[in-house]
Amino acid sequence: MVEILPSILSADFARLGEEITRVERAGVSMLHVDVMDGHFVPNITIGPPVVKSIRKITKLTLDVHLMITDPDRYAPAFIEAGADQISVHQEVCPHLDRTLRMIQSEGALAGVVLNPSTPVSTLEEVLDLADYVLVMSVNPGFGGQQFLPNSLNRVRALEARRRQRGLAFHIEMDGGLGPENVLDAVQAGCDWVVAGSSIFHSDDPETAVKRMQQLARQATAVRA
Ligand code: DX5
Ligand code: ZN
Repeated sequence: MVEILPSILSADFARLGEEITRVERAGVSMLHVDVMDGHFVPNITIGPPVVKSIRKITKLTLDVHLMITDPDRYAPAFIEAGADQISVHQEVCPHLDRTLRMIQSEGALAGVVLNPSTPVSTLEEVLDLADYVLVMSVNPGFGGQQFLPNSLNRVRALEARRRQRGLAFHIEMDGGLGPENVLDAVQAGCDWVVAGSSIFHSDDPETAVKRMQQLARQATAVRA
């Protein structure tokens, strides 16, 4: 089943609990949490204490996207704070195999993220190890950017490898996603669709989520 993951980056941080409750009411089961360090990307967001606070108020799966230069150092603290799954950028992991295994041994699912300019082929040797692959459909760092259409080809390439090799990793997409392109994303092979501004900057986040869920279901029917 395809999941829509609201990204709290676009939520009102002063009312974060309420914002999360709103999307919970729409029936989501996963929440996307963006961690930025001001080095890997030109923006700074949140750390483990905020994840710990979120963990206390929700049972949703917390999908933590680490846009930081040293994920090996910080991933355990995010898992300890309550992250269920952690994704790390291929671009900052010279020992990607080791990093993914470390995350799994700490008790979380391990994902690997690709920037728009990083070839899918760089993941060839870890596709049987990763629990999920996150394809960035914008250059990471900010919400509200425009979707890069070539990302769909990249998802198709991953989905082809998954099928050919009989693998089970999930495919996630993040950046510039909303009602206008969720159908394309799911048809290309996405299982998890992240959306920030199209949900939290809409007039009614609950309705925005439901609309995307409905479109995703239609696309799944076509894919099947
Ligand atoms: C961007 C973040 C995204 C961001 C997406 O670097 O990784 O998760 O929240 O926001 P939208 O959906 O507004 O592009
Ligand atoms: Zn993200």
